[in-house]
Amino acid sequence: MSLAHQHLVILTGASRGMGLAMARQLLTPGRHLLCISRHVAPELEDLARQRGATLLQWSQDLSDPSEAARRLDAWLDPQETRTVASATLINNAGMIPRIGPIDECPAGELAGALRVGLEAPLLLTAAFLRATGHWVAAGWRGPRKVLNISSGLGRRAMAAQAPYCAAKAGLDHFTRCTALDEARREHGARLVSLAPGVIDTDMQEQLRAGDPAAFPDLQRFVELQRQGQLTSPQDAAVRVLAWLERADFGEQPVADVRD
Ligand SMILES: NC(=O)c1ccc[n+]([C@@H]2O[C@H](COP(=O)([O-])OP(=O)(O)OC[C@H]3O[C@@H](n4cnc5c(N)ncnc54)[C@H](OP(=O)(O)O)[C@@H]3O)[C@@H](O)[C@H]2O)c1
Repeated sequence: MSLAHQHLVILTGASRGMGLAMARQLLTPGRHLLCISRHVAPELEDLARQRGATLLQWSQDLSDPSEAARRLDAWLDPQETRTVASATLINNAGMIPRIGPIDECPAGELAGALRVGLEAPLLLTAAFLRATGHWVAAGWRGPRKVLNISSGLGRRAMAAQAPYCAAKAGLDHFTRCTALDEARREHGARLVSLAPGVIDTDMQEQLRAGDPAAFPDLQRFVELQRQGQLTSPQDAAVRVLAWLERADFGEQPVADVRD
């Protein structure tokens, strides 16, 4: 599938929740959407056909970030890129392991949460910057953007959420550092780590299903839903994708859609 005259968007975690809503909205003619999750979403294939959009879905477990990055590298490298309109990576996939203190969570789950939530975005960003950096070296001048989906919990500590909070805090800080590196490069990429608000997805269900004995903030999440304060995945996707289109995208590398 050629990228000629296409806006390339690579999106992780597109099979459910806000990622699926973003994928639906991104399927328009002129875009080439590459989705990466463990599961593919058959409804996206139908939508792409109806709308004449280009879609590629990879079934890929991001708890093996090296393999995911190698695969992305191998896919981007041979592309004919002179006429690509733009290139964007959205690191959206995330996961919450067992809720509670870290010594009560199996080591494999802790490691998996850090791999999916931090190591995979970092390695995919590196692969994306490396490949598109080669395009730039060959004279390509389209915009390059990386949008990392963070969380308010990357900026505020919460008991029983250490691995998730740590992954999001790491995501924010690697975004800040990489933005500094890219600012020193000719035609560098622009990066933002964006908190998307509180969204009515499986992740919120998982939080509400936490063990009250292990999770002192449980009731807060129950109340958010009860009071109708959750944003729908569709509305959250609209706000996040609008952030990508801002003229000042990247000027503030760490941001919140509610700002
Ligand atoms: N929901 C909220 O209130 C909220 C608040 C702040 C920030 N966020 C952030 O927003 C983003 C989207 O959240 P969401 O609520 O839409 O989450 P969600 O409904 O739980 O969906 C998570 C997505 O990540 C993918 N994913 C999880 N583990 C994966 C793995 N090992 N390999 C590949 N993909 C994996 C899932 O796909 P598969 O299962 O098919 O692999 C799914 O598409 C996340 O980064 C989350 O941390 C959410």
